[in-house]
Amino acid sequence: MGAEVVIEGLTKSFGKQTIWRDVTLTLPPGEVSAMLGPSGTGKSVFLKSMIGLLKPDRGRCVINGVDIVTCAEHKLYEIRKLFGVLFQDGALFGSMNLYDNVAFPLREHTKKSETEIRRIVLEKLDMTGLNGADKKLPGEISGGMRKRAGLARALVLDPEIILVDEPDSGLDPVRTTYISQLFLDVNAQIDATFLIVTHNINLARTVPDNLGMLFRKELVMFGPREVLLTSEEPVVKQFLNGKMQGPIGMSEEKDSAQMAAEQAMFDAGHHAGGVEDITGVPPQMQTTPGVPTRMGAVRRKDRVMEIMHRLPPAAQESIIESLSPEEQRHYGVRSHRGQPQQVGARPQGDGVPNQHHGQLPAEQVARIPGGQPPRTGTHRLPPNNGPGGR
Ligand SMILES: Nc1ncnc2c1ncn2[C@@H]1O[C@H](COP(=O)(O)OP(=O)(O)OP(=O)(O)O)[C@@H](O)[C@H]1O
Ligand SMILES: [Mg+2]
Repeated sequence: MGAEVVIEGLTKSFGKQTIWRDVTLTLPPGEVSAMLGPSGTGKSVFLKSMIGLLKPDRGRCVINGVDIVTCAEHKLYEIRKLFGVLFQDGALFGSMNLYDNVAFPLREHTKKSETEIRRIVLEKLDMTGLNGADKKLPGEISGGMRKRAGLARALVLDPEIILVDEPDSGLDPVRTTYISQLFLDVNAQIDATFLIVTHNINLARTVPDNLGMLFRKELVMFGPREVLLTSEEPVVKQFLNGKMQGPIGMSEEKDSAQMAAEQAMFDAGHHAGGVEDITGVPPQMQTTPGVPTRMGAVRRKDRVMEIMHRLPPAAQESIIESLSPEEQRHYGVRSHRGQPQQVGARPQGDGVPNQHHGQLPAEQVARIPGGQPPRTGTHRLPPNNGPGGR
């Protein structure tokens, strides 16, 4: 199983410029998580901080009991071997063919024989659909192939944690979906913990188990996908619908005067861009038939059911709708089309609350802006089969 990553109060600035502060979240082992956020909010800085390429000012990032913010260099070097990183452009060496590119970390970091290296490289090239492309130079292949080669290289050291920065940059929507499928299949095959940084709405809505968002130097939220996808938080809604209308502007944020002026424009009928308002939780992508079960998704189901009574009602509804009748029986929950009731799982018998009263679990739903509990507005659920997650 992949490693758990526990991040607490992480803060990073460059000189006087704070990039983000007090970021607290846990990446559950073997699950696929994604981090959203407008350009410049520090998503790449976050990934680099997680592997110790950048040094946060304060806070902790604990992996296998080691806090990489404060640990000694040699410990950091060891921990880094747990990571596979897929950089934005694949970061391949232009003068090496794909075989040598993928073999590079094995030759650098291990004492394996060339025969063994060959076996591993060919296996990873096969896994990423690059059979027969091993002699090609990066300049001779398409962007999608380069991404896959970057992923093959990220996989050779059997990583426990895979970080991916903007997997869709330079890819068309179809290729983006193919690489997303590959992430889920790889996740099923090696059970590594994934963190994907992206602004791709489709990917965010359909691929990860957990979603987070960075905005205004803070982690707005982090939690099971259903929490963000049903959120009424204006910044989250705006981002997921790709509209101009809302707090996110061309530069990172708008002031109130600009928001008011724009609102008047939209009220007068100006198109706010983006897609039609999307509400509800679309089904999650599944692994390709024949690929092993994603154990992270299986564990996630238990984990989410454990914390469910502390999640906002709309997220609870979506989660219950995503379960099969057998699973609903197993967990002792029942859905009545938007009126979920819990039957027996919790002996206190107060069922799934219709109003959210309590504090959200800090490690799962990291932060609600202004300390407000999430709004419990109306949420339209998909008519039949709710979200995936299976
Ligand atoms: N090494 C550095 N030194 C100084 N400032 C930096 C450094 N790296 C990043 N920054 C600043 O940190 C901020 C966040 O950058 P980052 O690349 O993490 O944004 P991002 O969210 O990944 O954006 P995008 O979606 O466009 O990739 C930017 O203002 C950037 O200028
Ligand atoms: Mg970036």
